[in-house]
Amino acid sequence: MGFAQSSHRGGTGMDYGRFADDQVKAIRDVVGTGTAINALSGGVDSSVCTVLGHRALGERMKTFFVDNALMREGEPEQVVRTFADLGISVTLVDARREFLGALAGLTDPEQKRQAITDTFYAKVFSRLVRETGARYLIHGTILTDVEETVAGIKRQHNILAQLGIDPVKEYGYRVLEPLVTLRKDGVRGLAKAVGLPAAVADRMPFPGPALATRVVGEVTERRLATVRAATRIVEEELADTGAFQYLAVLLADRATGIRSGQREFGEIVVVRCIESRDAREATATRLPWEKLEALCRRITSIPGVNRCLYDLTPKPPATVEYI
Ligand code: XMP
Repeated sequence: MGFAQSSHRGGTGMDYGRFADDQVKAIRDVVGTGTAINALSGGVDSSVCTVLGHRALGERMKTFFVDNALMREGEPEQVVRTFADLGISVTLVDARREFLGALAGLTDPEQKRQAITDTFYAKVFSRLVRETGARYLIHGTILTDVEETVAGIKRQHNILAQLGIDPVKEYGYRVLEPLVTLRKDGVRGLAKAVGLPAAVADRMPFPGPALATRVVGEVTERRLATVRAATRIVEEELADTGAFQYLAVLLADRATGIRSGQREFGEIVVVRCIESRDAREATATRLPWEKLEALCRRITSIPGVNRCLYDLTPKPPATVEYI
């Protein structure tokens, strides 16, 4: 459980300002004159942790954004800029080669996910922890993560184990989880209360393994570039739908098409747009036909892509992501 207990679980009527103050004080009390570290993904949970940590510790809070090569267009720079605007310095770590190397040749979904987890924790982040000498890690675990881990829905999120750190040997090392009593709506409320822009507080869910969850088959730079271009188009076209989540997926299959009078065996991109309350169940959004046609037109103008499909499958039986 978290180090600063609170009876609040978010929702209406919660005093987010006070909650933030309590967590800042708790971080300060625990870390004292020490150094803490956190990894910022740009998602709302790690963003709120970053603000709380910096309020509590100032320069003794070291925040890193790891560029794993799997981010959306301009995302690493955008996240660093958002925090610079808030007066918080975030160090961008270029780990693209490490992640692409770990993913090379892998096509099995679970192996791909494992390679990303291992590269992040066992290689990149554990190196940063050791280099900074930080003894405290601020992590954006929320109540739902704990519940889903206990229920066996989510993979183990025991951070110390994933870092390859034995807490007994590494005496004094602590993980602080200031958001562990909150659910997503509570974290979004807190995000606004601590001054994060709406683009962060209300950000659409984006998975930790990032665009790798949207590349079926091998994840290569070239295939990432294709799905990244499709993602930008989908996010631009569907921003005004108010849907829960929308995304583009690159399939491993190919299909024959015709371009400039020549037959080509091209790539296939799937567009997914869903309505959901919490991503446990979902249904496809009934997008207007004109919108679908516009998406199709733009996506099939990406070099090499000659088909665009819209996924109607609810969850279950499908999941939201493709790996
Ligand atoms: P699925 O694909 O399981 O996705 O139906 C449900 C929701 O969770 C997101 N998702 C993830 N989020 N790490 C995350 O932080 C992950 O590994 C991950 N996999 C899926 C997905 O985008 C959807 O909102």
